[in-house]
Amino acid sequence: MFTHESLKKALFANGISRRGFLKYCTTLASMLALPTSMAATIAQKIEQAKRPSVIWLHFQECTGCTESLTRSHAPTVESLIFDYISLDYHETLLAAAGHDAEKAMEVAMHDNKGQYILVVEGSIPVKHPEYSTVGGQTNLDVLKKTAKDAAAIVAVGACASFGGLPHASPNPSDAVSVSEIIKDKPIVNIPGCPPIPVVMTGVLAHYLIFGALPALDELGRPKTFYGQTIHDRCPRRSFYDRGLFAESFDDAGAKAGWCLYRLGCKGPTTHNACATIKWNDQTSWPVESGHGCLGCSEPNFWDAGGFYKALSIPSSDYHRVAGYAVAAGLAVGAVAGSMNKMKKSKAAKAHETVSVDDWDERS
Ligand code: SF4
Ligand code: SF4
Ligand code: F3S
Repeated sequence: MFTHESLKKALFANGISRRGFLKYCTTLASMLALPTSMAATIAQKIEQAKRPSVIWLHFQECTGCTESLTRSHAPTVESLIFDYISLDYHETLLAAAGHDAEKAMEVAMHDNKGQYILVVEGSIPVKHPEYSTVGGQTNLDVLKKTAKDAAAIVAVGACASFGGLPHASPNPSDAVSVSEIIKDKPIVNIPGCPPIPVVMTGVLAHYLIFGALPALDELGRPKTFYGQTIHDRCPRRSFYDRGLFAESFDDAGAKAGWCLYRLGCKGPTTHNACATIKWNDQTSWPVESGHGCLGCSEPNFWDAGGFYKALSIPSSDYHRVAGYAVAAGLAVGAVAGSMNKMKKSKAAKAHETVSVDDWDERS
């Protein structure tokens, strides 16, 4: 159990003020579509949360999802949330190797039977299970074994959610997603290649707070993060609505921020929160940096690809009222502002001499 004291010390040690933590809880409430008045309750629940045991498996994948989560430049509250889970087995991050690593998994499964969260990164080869093995066990066997006593399963990335790149034609291993194998457990899909780190930790934070997975859409994705399309919240949208399209990646229109639809942007058919949460500490995201969305959070995104070929859907399907979903997007977008303010708060406080005992009272 994490005590208030241990959380307080951890946040203080990372330069995050009590006010910054409460601000995070407020924006987390917005992200999770809860009333902001619940911020204090969320703070209390996180402080008192029992550390869930997490077993993180790697199957057919590139480890890009783990890289996405662990490559942040500075500690943030959401990265600390990741630290607050008990990561009992993770093939990339585990210090132990060989039999010791396998034993760590067995111990975690035994000691947390029915309570651990199973995180899966990568797809599962079913036609040739021997294509991908760890410790002599096929991915298929390991998934079935670890899923059996899991409380819930989190499929991170396009590979685990929908098969991803290993599933792309000709799919020599007959790669499939987690949900195509496991049918009797709650599964949340967090697609993307890779997914946005804040989305991964947001789902874990939700589990910490409520002890359950968030509401999901018909593809098993959390509605709060995947409820709108890239197109609905894209800053180039006003150019789209005015019919102003870049014709090449270096023409005057592209440089002026015009819409990338004719260059193959899949934003109109892609559900994700990149336009509001952004990437790399809210630095930018694909469309902002000049490249169309590839649709990486949708099924079959690689085969559906035609990355530089324009979508061919009737314009009436995506010429929606410009304000559509903006209100919903604002809640998620508030995260960026809040985190930036937290960073500034951290930077300012780094020059002050403050005791951890003052943490509760500081604002
Ligand atoms: Fe790599 Fe993409 Fe698969 Fe994640 S979803 S493991 S980034 S290929
Ligand atoms: Fe933005 Fe792409 Fe939609 Fe154009 S088509 S407005 S670039 S998401
Ligand atoms: Fe993926 Fe499109 Fe976002 S390619 S990273 S969903 S902008």
